[in-house]
Amino acid sequence: MNPVEQIKHSRTEARKLRDPNADICFLALADNDGRASIRTLVLRDIGEIDFTIFINQTSPKWKLFSAGADYELLIWYPSQQHQFRIRGTAAPLDANTVGQNWLRRPQGSKYLDYIYEDFQPQSSELASREQLTAEVQRLKEVHKGQDMQAPSKVAGMKLIADQIELLDLNHEDRIHSRRRFNFVNNDWQMTELVP
Ligand SMILES: Cc1cc2nc3c(=O)[nH]c(=O)nc-3n(C[C@H](O)[C@H](O)[C@H](O)COP(=O)(O)O)c2cc1C
Repeated sequence: MNPVEQIKHSRTEARKLRDPNADICFLALADNDGRASIRTLVLRDIGEIDFTIFINQTSPKWKLFSAGADYELLIWYPSQQHQFRIRGTAAPLDANTVGQNWLRRPQGSKYLDYIYEDFQPQSSELASREQLTAEVQRLKEVHKGQDMQAPSKVAGMKLIADQIELLDLNHEDRIHSRRRFNFVNNDWQMTELVP
């Protein structure tokens, strides 16, 4: 069994049922001191063994990635009763792909990317919300939309899986099925786990 194909299938079924989690994932990172952080992200493309996310280089999570932080990506589709936990390596997405995708972002998100670059980094402290909304208003007056290009700190990451765990709750008497898959010699090897 190929666990990436299983994720794609579960996601397709989740989308059909308008599962609110169908297009998101949860990314946990650990810093050098072992301090954990976790956040929700849009899960973009799923490749043969990789998962694409879009993030900003001014953000704490980018800094953690740059420092080689360990990660785990979690996907939970309630409509399918499937949980996936993904581990592996990470590699930045090429600038061309990032730039093309960025053009399709909602307008508000584009302004925020400008904010991160020219005003304050993502996740930094604001003096007030008014300060932020005033800056967005200023940007709206300068940039009407069509002239906007991806700022240089917009980025994407490919998370390349070497281990995927599937917890399947669709079994009788709550005796769930839990399987770990390791990518070895270009193939997925399965190990059954106590759920
Ligand atoms: C539904 C949802 C989708 C999100 N998608 C993204 C995303 O695709 N990229 C992103 O950088 N942040 C996204 N966020 C915001 C992140 O969860 C997080 O708050 C932000 O990126 C700052 O993270 P950091 O301080 O850990 O770097 C999303 C949040 C939610 C609730």
